[in-house]
Amino acid sequence: MTRRHLGLSTRAIHGEPEPRPDWTPIARPVYQSSTFTNPVGSTAEVLYTRYGNNPNQVAIGRRLALLEGAEAALFLASGMGATALAHLAVLRPGDHLIASEWIYGGVHGLFTQEFGRFGIEVTFVDPTRSRAWKEALRKQTRALFVETPTNPLLRVIDLEPIAALAKAEGLALLVDSTFASPIGFRPLEHGADIVIHSATKYLNGHADVIAGAVAGTEAVVEEVRRLMRLWGQTIDPHSAWLIERGMRTLAVRMLRHSATGLAVAEWFSRQPSVARVHYPGLASHTDHTTATRILNGFGGMLGIELKGGSRAAERFLRALTIAAHAPSLGGVETLVSEPRLTSHRGLSEEERSRAGIPDGFLRFSLGLEDTDDLIADFAQALAQL
Ligand SMILES: Cc1ncc(COP(=O)(O)O)c(C=O)c1O
Repeated sequence: MTRRHLGLSTRAIHGEPEPRPDWTPIARPVYQSSTFTNPVGSTAEVLYTRYGNNPNQVAIGRRLALLEGAEAALFLASGMGATALAHLAVLRPGDHLIASEWIYGGVHGLFTQEFGRFGIEVTFVDPTRSRAWKEALRKQTRALFVETPTNPLLRVIDLEPIAALAKAEGLALLVDSTFASPIGFRPLEHGADIVIHSATKYLNGHADVIAGAVAGTEAVVEEVRRLMRLWGQTIDPHSAWLIERGMRTLAVRMLRHSATGLAVAEWFSRQPSVARVHYPGLASHTDHTTATRILNGFGGMLGIELKGGSRAAERFLRALTIAAHAPSLGGVETLVSEPRLTSHRGLSEEERSRAGIPDGFLRFSLGLEDTDDLIADFAQALAQL
C-alpha cells in the first residue's frame, strides 16, 4: 500500500506499516541508551542519542513527516529549540526575517533578544494584511514566519497570499502549526516550506513532555539535524517514546477536542456574563469562513471575555473544580489561563485591550473530559462571579 492511501488515523497509529516478524512487540520498546555498539571498522554513521538516530527518535520523526506530508521531520528538546534551529537553518548573518506580530511570547523574545546577536533583523507585521508583508520586504529578506491559529484570539491565517509572496521572492515560509496539529491543518499543503510544532502540546497530548518538531524537505531537516547535534537540542529517548505513544491517539483526540470546542463555544455564547467568545467554529469569529475552508476541525482552543474584568476572571478561576488554572495547552486535561498574567504580561492594560485581549480574557485548552461535566464546571464557576 502506498502512503497516500493511508488515512490520518492509520498514519498516526502505525506510521508506515512495516513487516512484523513473529514475536515483534506491538509497542516499540524505549531504547533508553545513550550509545550503541558499532560494527568494528564500519564507516557507517555512528549511533549516538545526541545525534538523534536512536530508534525512538527516528520513529517519531518518520511519523510526523507522514502526517505533515513532508519529506522529513525531526523532533527536538523543546518547541523553542525547534523554532530557533528551524530559523537558523535558513537565515545567515545579515539576513532579514519578517514575522507575524501575533506569535508566542517566547518566540517574540527569541527574535527580539537573540537574533540580533547573529546579525538577523526581524520586522513584525499584521499577518492578515497582505500589503504589510510586501511593504516590509527588503533586499536582505530571506524568510517569513507565521503562527496559525494564533494565541489567544484563535485568528486563522490564510497562508496562500503569504506563500505566493514567498515563492515570488524566493523566501522560506516557516509556520508554527502547534494549535492545529497536523490533523487540523497541514501548512505544507498551503505553500509553507517548514512546519514547526511545540510537540509539548497536541502532538504529545498528555502534559508530561517538553519537545518540539520541525518538518520540511530532506535538505532543511538535515540542516536542522546538523545544528541540533552541535547545539545539543536533541530530545531524550523516553520523551520520544512518550510522544510516539501520544501520537497514536492524535487523530481521535483532535476529533474530540474539536467536538467539545464547538459545544463549549456555543454554550459560552449564550451566557450573559460573557461579553465575547473567540472560537473559529463560531459564525461570529472574524476568520470563520477561512477556518471552515482550510481547517479540518476547529480544535480545542477557546477564548472568552468576561464582562466583569480581571476580578471576575479570578473568581471564575478559583471556583473551577475540574478544569485547572495552568498555562500550556493541548493535553487531555482542560486548562484555563489568563493571558494578562501569561503570554501578554509584558503589555500594559491599554496595550492588551488594543490587541483585543482586555482584562477578563480567559484562554481555555479544552481537554477530553465529558463535555457535560466541563460545561457544568464552567456554569457553577460563572454563577459565583
Ligand atoms: C505556539 C507555540 N509555539 C512554541 C511554543 C514553545 O514551545 P515549548 O514550550 O515546547 O518550548 C509554545 C509554547 O507555549 C507555543 O504555544
